[in-house]
Amino acid sequence: CGIIGFTGKLKAQDVLLTGLASLEYRGYDSAGIAYFKDTGKISLRKTVGKVKDLRAICDDDNNSTCGIGHTRWATHGGVTNANAHPHKVGQVALIHNGIIENYHDLATKYDLTDELISETDTEVAAALINKLYEGDPKEALRKAVAEIEGSFAFCVLFKDHPGEIYAVRNVSPMVATYCDDGAFIASDLTAFIAYNKRYFIVPEYHILTMTADGITLEDLDGHSVEPEYMEVNWDVTAAQKDGYPHFMIKEIHEQPAAITRTITPRIKDMLPDFSEDAIADSFFENVSDITIVACGTAMYAGMVGKTMIQNRLHIPVTVAIASEFRYEEPVINEKSMVIVVSQSGETIDTLEALRLANKYTKKTLSIVNVKGSSIARESSYVLYTHAGPEIAVASTKAYTVQVASFYLLACKLAMTQQKISVEEARTFVGTLQEIPNYIEEVLAQAPDIEQLTKRMINANNAFFIGRGLDYTLCMEGALKLKEISYIHAEAYAAGELKHGTIALVSEGVPVIAAATQKHVYSKVISNIREVKARGAYVILLSKDKEITDPSICDVHINLPDVSDEFTIFESVVIFQLIAYYTSVGKGLNPDQPRNLAKSVTVE
Ligand code: G6P
Repeated sequence: CGIIGFTGKLKAQDVLLTGLASLEYRGYDSAGIAYFKDTGKISLRKTVGKVKDLRAICDDDNNSTCGIGHTRWATHGGVTNANAHPHKVGQVALIHNGIIENYHDLATKYDLTDELISETDTEVAAALINKLYEGDPKEALRKAVAEIEGSFAFCVLFKDHPGEIYAVRNVSPMVATYCDDGAFIASDLTAFIAYNKRYFIVPEYHILTMTADGITLEDLDGHSVEPEYMEVNWDVTAAQKDGYPHFMIKEIHEQPAAITRTITPRIKDMLPDFSEDAIADSFFENVSDITIVACGTAMYAGMVGKTMIQNRLHIPVTVAIASEFRYEEPVINEKSMVIVVSQSGETIDTLEALRLANKYTKKTLSIVNVKGSSIARESSYVLYTHAGPEIAVASTKAYTVQVASFYLLACKLAMTQQKISVEEARTFVGTLQEIPNYIEEVLAQAPDIEQLTKRMINANNAFFIGRGLDYTLCMEGALKLKEISYIHAEAYAAGELKHGTIALVSEGVPVIAAATQKHVYSKVISNIREVKARGAYVILLSKDKEITDPSICDVHINLPDVSDEFTIFESVVIFQLIAYYTSVGKGLNPDQPRNLAKSVTVE
């Protein structure tokens, strides 16, 4: 869910609606705002649907200068108007991101059931705070958070405190700022960056009071705390579409620049160097094994990282799904390195997995895009990717910069452990530096990719096959296609297909095959023949200048000739374009696929 609050000199409704539009990537089932009217009353507008639907039911002449807004990704309770936020109970109107685990017990303990009209955990929090409220908002919040279990970011209005917003959080992210225009709070700073580039992260279990004249922060004992302001180095245009029809295609095109931005500060004398990240060389020494933990696309970036590191270091490297890892008995010790990967730095499963890992080893490193995020703060070391803001729900540029970071890490680890020579490392780094140019060449093929997706639009199923590094990449290709085109897509190690899944390959089923790895090239071609013989529509990605034998594939995509380990940067861009144009061809909005949210801060 996305939350925003504003109090100050501007019309709150404009700030809230614009802010919510930029937070929509966090959920878009329903949206709502609450604001103080001149009379001191709190008014609510909320609806099922997106921010544009909310805008349609808002009053143009709303002059309120204080309000809160929410865009929802449903967890407890279906997508209905009643379940949409804000929730108003008695004196209190509230928005919430997170999950209140003991909401049922609280409703019983405080006898709140009769006051509830929705099915949400959030409304229980509103009713609880209302019940505990005796005229002092901070006191009510202090008492409430002592009772509430789970994750939460709350912004609360109290009817008899017009012009004031109160906020408190645990786990779920919230950032805030104060400037000439007034006080802003949001799940993510893209919601208010148009007003101020300075912001601070609201610390957990601290109460923030916002008025038109300023912001005060205090801990639960009432001691005042100075906010720690930071500044972002990108501006509002980075979070706009800039002439592209969708954020996703804009972000696909931003990949060459994003990779350059990410790797350049970490290359010195043509060798990987993490001194700017303050990662001591000792971090790369005495590593017995590595576990990479992440969710979704970040986890698939980890799969590539595993192959790159394991092939050089010859030590066990495991990739763990964060939501599984955190409930297992971890097989790690103080010599284990744990690398946590997350674009947002806030995915709750990944954060909790990191917290678990921190109990076993000091060698935790996060690869994170969002500066100052929880995962970045809680890992021993952080390597910030410089993708810039990624708005489209389906991740593209965040993935390629994560992968590029793994390439540098693999090289650094291999050098430290004397598995490769300095010369080999320099050649490797030199090729990595060339990757943005190769991606530009691939992007020039976008019109051809758009054409070939016309054949994909009516497909119900699709398969991505490859071996070795190509296979790790196929997982990301299949995920992209599923996420935004709703075509059931599966990635298969090409050699494994014959052990069952080939039963699903029939006339016309698209099979996207990557054959870029020389040592398994002929094997993959044999696997392609197997599916072709069963009528598959085969799109082949390879470095061959041309394919003369028509029995191999229906469409051939020629990739620029770069050494085998680096072709995946080219192939993934093709996969992203296939997914994007298939989605657009089906009349869908690739930026906001159904049921998904970009930042999942619930378990
Ligand atoms: C969600 C998004 C995915 C993303 C995953 C992990 O599921 O829809 O695109 O890969 O979360 O997010 P993170 O911010 O931790 O990389």
